[in-house]
Amino acid sequence: MTADTIAIAADHAGYALKQALKEELARTGRDVLDLGTDGPQSVDYPDFANRLADALQSGRARRGVLVCGTGIGIAIAANRHRHVRAAVCHDVSSARLARQHNDANVLALGARLIGDETARDCLRVFLETAFDGGERHSRRVAKMG
Ligand code: RB5
Repeated sequence: MTADTIAIAADHAGYALKQALKEELARTGRDVLDLGTDGPQSVDYPDFANRLADALQSGRARRGVLVCGTGIGIAIAANRHRHVRAAVCHDVSSARLARQHNDANVLALGARLIGDETARDCLRVFLETAFDGGERHSRRVAKMG
């Protein structure tokens, strides 16, 4: 693991997309911490959101990717943890703005709503975009801490 390790987790609805994104991360030289699920059997998305939140808190990863059917349930669960700012993104604009304005540390994707290609684009942009860092965005993010 490195300081830039990306943690990834999904429920059964997000399993196939998680596998594809994991390959993409490895192909682009990222260290990946796969927190499950490990197959298409039905599981409960909060369990996997919690695993990923724990990995961020312990420093095993700095950023994360969560996938469920819509991205919504797993993001809601992750956002119950104070140190998590999970953003459900459907396109590269939302992925870019989630980083620039919200300093999101978790990308949440809906495998039943977006295609693999769009998901890959969201992932690339999310990881490549820095927080804007300006006073107004920093102030707003701090109010959520
Ligand atoms: C599972 O069927 C589905 O409800 C879940 O993946 C997610 O979409 C919930 O928000």
